[in-house]
Amino acid sequence: MKPRVQKLFQQLDPKPEAIVLANAIDPHLDQTFFYVFDVPAGLFEGSIAIAHPDGELDVFSSPLEAETAQIAAKKDPHVKVHVVARDETAGAARRLLGPATSIGLNFRELTHEWFVKLDEQFPGAKWSDCSNGIRRARVTKDANEIELLRRSAEIGSKVGREIPGVLKAGISELELAAEMEHRMGRYGASGRSFATIVAFGPHSAEPHYAPADTKLKAGDSIVCDFGAYYHRYASDITRSYHFGRRDEEMKKVHETVLNAQEAALAAVRPGVPSKEVHLAAARVIDASPWKGRLTHGVGHSIGLVVHDGWAYGATVEDPLEVGMAITVEPGIYLPGHGGVRIEDDIVVTKNGYEFLTTTPREYVEVLA
Ligand code: GLY
Ligand code: MN
Ligand code: MN
Repeated sequence: MKPRVQKLFQQLDPKPEAIVLANAIDPHLDQTFFYVFDVPAGLFEGSIAIAHPDGELDVFSSPLEAETAQIAAKKDPHVKVHVVARDETAGAARRLLGPATSIGLNFRELTHEWFVKLDEQFPGAKWSDCSNGIRRARVTKDANEIELLRRSAEIGSKVGREIPGVLKAGISELELAAEMEHRMGRYGASGRSFATIVAFGPHSAEPHYAPADTKLKAGDSIVCDFGAYYHRYASDITRSYHFGRRDEEMKKVHETVLNAQEAALAAVRPGVPSKEVHLAAARVIDASPWKGRLTHGVGHSIGLVVHDGWAYGATVEDPLEVGMAITVEPGIYLPGHGGVRIEDDIVVTKNGYEFLTTTPREYVEVLA
C-alpha cells in the first residue's frame, strides 16, 4: 500500500535503500508485512515484503498462499508478487535488490535465523533498525484501518452484551471462554486477538489470569477480557459482572472504576501527554477506599496486534495524536476477593475521541 510504505519511510532518517520485512514461522510473523501488504487472509510463513522509498512493494510469497497474494496484488498497482519456494526467498531478494548497501529491518520482529540468511546474501550491507519508525507509522491509523477496528470492536461488543445471558451456576471459566470465542466466530471474527481471560471470584483480582475449570457460583465477581480478529485487526474489551446476591463492596468498586474510566476518557484529546489519561483514572481510584489498587497502565495501542507496540502509564509523555486507536482500561483488584476492570477501545479524533466498543458499562448483576 503506497501511502503506508511512504509513511514508514517518512519516519526514517537517514532512509535506507529498502526495508525488508521477513516472516518466520507462526507466531513469529511481522505484522508490518500485513501493514504494507493488504491481504486479508493467509499465513505467509517464510514470506518477505521489500518496501521501496517511492512507495512500491515487492512481496515474495510462498506457494502456499500464491493465489490469495495474487488476488490482493491485483487490487493494488503498487504491489508486485513473486512466488518463490521458501528456501529461495533470501536469494530472490538479493537478485531483486542487487548489492544494496543500506537496508532497514524491523529488529523487534525479525528472527535471528532470518538475519543470518539476509546477512549471507548482502555481505557488505549496512543494516539499520527501523522498529521505532515502524511503531510511529503504525500507531496512527488510516480510515481503512479504523473501519476494520470498528468492525472488530463490534464483534467483541456484541459478545459482551450477550455474556450475562450465558452465565449460570456451574459453568466453568474455560466453558464460558469457549462460548465467547465461538460466538465471536459466528459474528465474523477470524479468531481471537489474544488468549481470552475469564476469571471467577478471587481469580478476577489477577489482571492477566488464564481460565481454568473453576465453576461459577453465587457471590462471584467475574472479569471477561477478550477480543476478536477481523481482517487481521484486533479488538480488546473487558466487562465485569457479578453473579448472585448483590455485593455492596463490588458494586462500589465497579462505580469507582467506571468513574475512573470516565475521567480518563475526558482527558483524551490530541496533543495531551498520554500519561495524563492514566493519571486522570489513577487520581479517581487513589481518592477512593481502594487507593493503590490500580496495578497496571491504563491503556495501549491496538491495531494489527492487540498490544500494538505502544502503551501508556504514569510516566509516558508521548502525546496523543489524531487516528490513534487505544484502550482505556482502569481496574481495581482486591486480592483474595475479586476485581473489576472496564476496558473500551477508542480512536482519538480532532475534538476528543470516538468509541469503537459499544457494550454498556454499568454494573450488571446476574441472578444466580
Ligand atoms: N487483554 C489484555 C489487555 O487488556 O491488555
Ligand atoms: Mn483486554
Ligand atoms: Mn487491553
